[in-house]
Amino acid sequence: MPLKYNVFNADGVKTKVLVLGGKTGMLGQALMKTGNEYGFEMSSLGREDADVLDLQILDAHITRLNPDIIFNAIAYTGVDKAEEESAQANLVNKVLPENLVSILRYSACHCVHYSTDFVFNGKNSAAYTENDETDPRSVYGSSKLAGERAILKLDNAAVLRTAWLFGCGRKNFVSTILKLAHEKPVLRIVHDQIGSPTSTADLAEMSFIVGSRKATGIFNAVNSGAASWCDLASEAVSLMNLPAFVEPITTAEWPQKAIRPKYSVLSVKHFTETFDYAPRPWPQALREYLFECIARD
Ligand SMILES: NC(=O)c1ccc[n+]([C@@H]2O[C@H](COP(=O)([O-])OP(=O)(O)OC[C@H]3O[C@@H](n4cnc5c(N)ncnc54)[C@H](OP(=O)(O)O)[C@@H]3O)[C@@H](O)[C@H]2O)c1
Repeated sequence: MPLKYNVFNADGVKTKVLVLGGKTGMLGQALMKTGNEYGFEMSSLGREDADVLDLQILDAHITRLNPDIIFNAIAYTGVDKAEEESAQANLVNKVLPENLVSILRYSACHCVHYSTDFVFNGKNSAAYTENDETDPRSVYGSSKLAGERAILKLDNAAVLRTAWLFGCGRKNFVSTILKLAHEKPVLRIVHDQIGSPTSTADLAEMSFIVGSRKATGIFNAVNSGAASWCDLASEAVSLMNLPAFVEPITTAEWPQKAIRPKYSVLSVKHFTETFDYAPRPWPQALREYLFECIARD
């Protein structure tokens, strides 16, 4: 990969990047891969290393590693499970960001944190901008909104709102659909929820753009375009040339514990104008994911 970023900090030493959740998280692994390819000094920290939810322990690790940039890819992402485990969801999605604020308050370290389209109620009919009113309808969405509000108390922080992630290294909607397409002739998939499918590889690239420029505030960070879950499943099944039929069904026909937004497409206008970088359409990113991570398995 060509060198795109200055990997040296103001003191002429390699920029140190710490990825929270870098060993096991779907996005975390993509961030580690991208950062290593660009030549940053990468390290990761997760629950396999320490109790990252403990303020003193996390503080000690961050102080020792002394990073220039932290990407916080740790999150409680079980959207339905969160309805029954709100305390745990809040601990990971709200208290951990609050702890990062306590640790980084007087530091020059730049922090990039991730949030979700589920902070919106889904009643819009045009793509959500960063300024649209939030109104989460699920425990997960509320806990993520609390996390973004916490992290934005730092002067040196950005929140990237992302959505519908697929990527190497961890089970996701697309990999699940492809597994099922090998097992069943018909897949019944919801067609009346519309969002922004996004590749973790592309989100990692966008994260380094934000982190290396020390940009602050909220940015939508998704691939361009829109799709229903049924569109995304159909495209993946068709690209993999699988015989399964993808049948559109309504949300009412597929009841789930957590309420999901009916429409949560995120506008990439602010990201594109701020960084002069237009995220590519999701079908292109999907093709690359299928080629690099699924077809080679
Ligand atoms: N996935 C999506 O479709 C989606 C959509 C919108 C926004 N987002 C946001 O994007 C970010 C990245 O999501 P992702 O899909 O990459 O998440 P993920 O694959 O579920 O990874 C989550 C990471 O957090 C760690 N973690 C969870 N609970 C923990 C705990 N109690 N203590 C320590 N570590 C814990 C996990 O560790 P273990 O592997 O050990 O569990 C894993 O490393 C998150 O902020 C998420 O909210 C994701």
